[in-house]
Amino acid sequence: MGIGIKEQIKELETKALKDLDEAKDAAALERFRITYLGKKGLVTGLMRTLGKLPAAERPEAGKQANELKKRLAERFEQRKKEIEGDGAKVFRGIDVTLPGRKPELGHLHPITQTIQDICDIFQRMGFRIVKGPNVELDYYNFEALNIPKDHPARDMQDTFYISDKILLRTHTSPIQIRVMEAQKPPVSIIAPGKVYRRDSDVSHTPMFHQIEGLLVDRGVSFADLKGTLVSFVHQMFGKRTEVRFRPSFFPFTEPSAEVDIQCVLCSGSGCRTCGHTGWLEILGSGMVDPAVYGFVDYDPEVYTGFAFGMGVERIAMLRYGIDDIQMFFKNEMRFLRQF
Ligand code: PHE
Repeated sequence: MGIGIKEQIKELETKALKDLDEAKDAAALERFRITYLGKKGLVTGLMRTLGKLPAAERPEAGKQANELKKRLAERFEQRKKEIEGDGAKVFRGIDVTLPGRKPELGHLHPITQTIQDICDIFQRMGFRIVKGPNVELDYYNFEALNIPKDHPARDMQDTFYISDKILLRTHTSPIQIRVMEAQKPPVSIIAPGKVYRRDSDVSHTPMFHQIEGLLVDRGVSFADLKGTLVSFVHQMFGKRTEVRFRPSFFPFTEPSAEVDIQCVLCSGSGCRTCGHTGWLEILGSGMVDPAVYGFVDYDPEVYTGFAFGMGVERIAMLRYGIDDIQMFFKNEMRFLRQF
């Protein structure tokens, strides 16, 4: 094979690769394609000269020329991709006028916020926060709270039973028993938590939250109960909110009272939310029944105390003016973002 053709091929390749590297835009690339790879291009021209070579040299020279053409075509495609860019490879600078991307911050659920606010108020009065199990023994949920076997709350209709003796607590009151079992007076605790009842409509969900309070010591009277709860209402709903205590009944308190506040929507003049009474019930309370002390080995001649329990969802609904309890559990961002 003649040195001439071999050198010619090499020279052409060197020059072509240099031109290709120097091509910086689509127009330069197109010029390259026409100059080298086009029908009248240099590579094609070189191919044509092969026919004039001596027959013995032709196959080897032809092979080399074909390989050259292939290499240049490949390199050309590669360069084309680099220049046209698949976007990512081409750095076009930073557009400093684009608005920044703000990371979205989460926040506490309105129920959690309400639990914290209520607990804060009682903590400032000296109550200690405690928790109890959600899966509870019948003994703590009912029996030790002086709730007799035939009480309607024990009905399968109202309570989620796990077995004969085990259930999902229907209120936070079993925590009272657990605390009194574990320590002697003075006791002052506040106990938030989930409770479960077989109920579901606009004002009931099968799971909701309660906050229990208990205070036992020597010489605790109903006046202490009243003072504590009126102070709570004023801190929670505002100093001017009217409060009333209405006689009621719970098996574990005697006497018992339900606490109403002046309707937050109509300020007492009567509306649909308050059933045209002007009042809204917010919690149940009473003096701990001496029968309960019997279960925890407290001497009812020495100690007296009061207990109360409130529904968190109900208080949050009144506080924020929400009329459907289910909203708290749908996790709709449009709802949650408002708090
Ligand atoms: N446990 C009662 C309820 O769920 C509320 C309550 C608690 C009443 C403590 C009196 C004392 O309705």
